[in-house]
Order: sequence, then C-alpha cells, then structure tokens
Amino acid sequence: MTGDWSAFRDVGCHELDLAVHPDEARLAFFRGYLAREYSGPFVHGMGAYEILDMVRRFVCPGRRLDVGSGTASLFWILSADGDVTTTAADVESEALIVLRDFLQAPAPLPACYYEAAALFGVTAERVDELRGSIGPYLVFNALRTWPTTVTQGRYDSVTAFGCFGIAGSRAGYLDCFANAASAVRECGRIVGADWVRHPAKQRRDYSFLNATTLREIACDIGLRILYAHDLVITGDETYGGIVLWAFEAP
Ligand SMILES: C[S@@+](CC[C@H](N)C(=O)[O-])C[C@H]1O[C@@H](n2cnc3c(N)ncnc32)[C@H](O)[C@@H]1O
Repeated sequence: MTGDWSAFRDVGCHELDLAVHPDEARLAFFRGYLAREYSGPFVHGMGAYEILDMVRRFVCPGRRLDVGSGTASLFWILSADGDVTTTAADVESEALIVLRDFLQAPAPLPACYYEAAALFGVTAERVDELRGSIGPYLVFNALRTWPTTVTQGRYDSVTAFGCFGIAGSRAGYLDCFANAASAVRECGRIVGADWVRHPAKQRRDYSFLNATTLREIACDIGLRILYAHDLVITGDETYGGIVLWAFEAP
C-alpha cells in the first residue's frame, strides 16, 4: 500500500484510451507495486481475508465502480457473488494501463489470486471469468467533486480500497463518501477499506480513519451502516491497522 500518490491534481474525466504519453517512471512504479503486493502465495494476517469476506457479503451483483483501483481491481472482487462488471478508475492513467496489461496478458494469474478465491469456495474457472469482467477504465480524481458522468452512473456498488483515506482530513473523507453516494443507485452499496500507518510512519492525518468516525459520517450524510470495523494488523513494519466499511445508500 506504500506509495506517493499524486492525489490532488485535476485530470478531468476521460476513458483510458484517450490518455496520451504515459509516464515511464509511473508505469515502472505501478508494475513494481503489482509485483510486490499482489504476487506469490496468499499472505494471511494482513486483512485481505476480512476484506474479501466483506466484499462477499456486501458488494451487489451488477455494475461496480472501483475508485483508486490501482492495479488491484480483480483481486478485491474475487469473493463476489453473482455477476459483477467493473469500471476501474484511478487518478493515474499509468495505474490503469498496468492493470489492463496485467489482465489481458496471456500469463496465468499469480497463485495468490486462486488461493484467495479458494478461501471462499470460488473456483479457478470463475477467477478466470472475473479476469474478463474488468473494464472500461476511467481516469478521474476521486478526491475532488466527482464528474457528472460518474455521478449519473447509478452503479450498483462503488468500491474503494486504500483510496478515500488519502483525503487526509475528516472533511475530505466525508466528501468521498458523499460523492460515492451520489454515484450509486437507490440501495446501492459503498464498500472499501483504508490502511492506517503506524504513528511513526504517518506523513498525513490518519486520526479520522476509524469505525467511530465512519459511523458519524454515515449519519451525517444519511447512509445505512452495513459494516464498520477496525482491524489490527500485527507484524507489518508500515501498517498497524485497517478500517473496513460497507454502507448502503437510501
Ligand atoms: C494505496 S493504492 C491502492 C490501490 C488498490 N486499490 C489496491 O488495493 O491495491 C491507492 C490508489 O489510489 C490512487 N489514487 C490516489 N489518489 C487518487 C485520487 N485522488 N483519485 C483517484 N485515485 C487516486 C493511486 O493512484 C493508487 O492507485
């Protein structure tokens, strides 16, 4: 989850194919991120099981918008029930280029994908099917007001793993959920997680990343709380916890 995100720039809103001149350094960064974080065997005790369990319970079948998707849009949907199709969105087109290349490559997926899926009784055939369920790819900044084309999307679910917490303040965090609420249909779901660094490793405000604040935010903007949970991680040198959340729009 480590990274320096160019979180606040204005990139407009466009489909990936309209992006020009990818930055080679950012491509290399995201390739490295994918290779480092989502390869090899499944790692237990880091919260991935709990996130996938939450996805299984709360992401609706149908159209999903995954914001701050980075290169992980497939991984976090492995446990989903029913047919889910994903629009993967990120502020950095290079992240989406790496994701698209990874999904469309002929190479088999890393073992952790099949292992994570198997924890939920999901077959390798279904994993390969889900691999084809991601796309289109959309570039926009999820930490500013969301573009009208997105908020008119009436998605069945919006997901965000490791993105909204980048907002850096409670007010910015609340705005992320308000934006997401405007992009889902009636009773649509908003599901995700944010990683919390150890105090000595924090370079921005993480004080609002907890289940108590999430419950307050849900009340403030009128979302039904399906799940809000603080999870402690032990043994990781950067992260001490994760806050997991799932809400339903009115
Ligand atoms: C911690 S990574 C998480 C990536 C992926 N969801 C995962 O679980 O591995 C944060 C992602 O959010 C993206 N991001 C950062 N700021 C963003 C913003 N303002 N709008 C949309 N995406 C953003 C980054 O480019 C990066 O891909």
